[in-house]
Amino acid sequence: MSTVLSGIQPSGLLHLGNYFGAIRQHIALQDEPGEHFYFIADYHSLTTLRHADKMRELVRETAITYLACGLDPEKAVLWRQSDVPEVTEIAWLLATVTGMGLLERAHSFKDKLAHHIKPTVGLFTYPILMAADILAYDANVVPVGKDQVQHVEMAQDMAGYFNNTYGDVFVRPEIRLEQTLHMQKVPGLDGQKMSKSYGNDIWMFESGKKLKKLCSQIVTDSRPPEEPKDPSELFVFDLLALFLDVEELAEWKAKVTAGGPLGPGYGHLKMRLKDAMEEYFASAREQREYFLAHPQVVDEILEVGAVKARQRARQVRDRALHACGLR
Ligand code: ADP
Ligand code: TRP
Repeated sequence: MSTVLSGIQPSGLLHLGNYFGAIRQHIALQDEPGEHFYFIADYHSLTTLRHADKMRELVRETAITYLACGLDPEKAVLWRQSDVPEVTEIAWLLATVTGMGLLERAHSFKDKLAHHIKPTVGLFTYPILMAADILAYDANVVPVGKDQVQHVEMAQDMAGYFNNTYGDVFVRPEIRLEQTLHMQKVPGLDGQKMSKSYGNDIWMFESGKKLKKLCSQIVTDSRPPEEPKDPSELFVFDLLALFLDVEELAEWKAKVTAGGPLGPGYGHLKMRLKDAMEEYFASAREQREYFLAHPQVVDEILEVGAVKARQRARQVRDRALHACGLR
């Protein structure tokens, strides 16, 4: 049986990159046979977010986003990482068999250093906690975007180190790469990868004037509407492709390619994006309002999820402790 597991950090409002690169796939998988585990990686977020009220707000917002987008607690377990402290115990066990060299090779750590984020020990050992997240539940399928592949490979390595030392304790997790996105990454307002840390992101539930303003900030050039253009050079089409059906997308591309008196200006493309995005998330936005107005429903889902998740993690933790002679 497959046990599917993934996590997402509550370190900011979730943007289009997070939705199309991770959340959408997580939720779609709940309809496949097997068990489904999704958690809010609040321990991980402590490596960058150090404000208690903000943390509480974002954990709730992240849970609500998953529920609003269709996560069904009957099909998938949803919980807060920190409600399962067994994960940190397993992280310690893994740390004792993991060489420094493995962690030193982590791209994400090197990237954070390059962005001048203070390198705490927590940031350095982030992949160990992530491996524990996966191994604690005997997960064998881990759906992630490309940027997280190396971390899951490290979890495979750590499971191997532990099992070679103490016998078969941890299940080897396999990567399920997000493939529904027909582009490498969702671009942000400036055309680079959309990321909250680059300040180029669009919150998935943004709407109205604020969304209009953001869309108008999408970087384009100063060529006039009449000038024929190659749509593949305009990243605004990558954003439009997320929302428009193929026929409409093709029509816009044809008009831009032809140029002339009917050539659409960049403003037209941006406003079409705004409307399409608002429409796409309309029902999720409504659901979000419902969960915002019923915080006890959200609390209960997270509590029930934590009980289920913890039951599993306890068994795995006990197995691991026994294997290394601590029980
Ligand atoms: P951020 O870069 O904004 O901090 P995270 O690193 O927390 O985002 O990403 C959480 C998940 O969302 C990851 O699994 C990642 O694959 C996905 N993701 C983030 N940004 C993008 C993007 N621009 N395009 C596609 N997927 C993305
Ligand atoms: N590191 C992941 C991210 O930033 C979040 C995460 C934490 C995760 N633990 C995990 C993802 C375990 C998959 C499995 O997106």
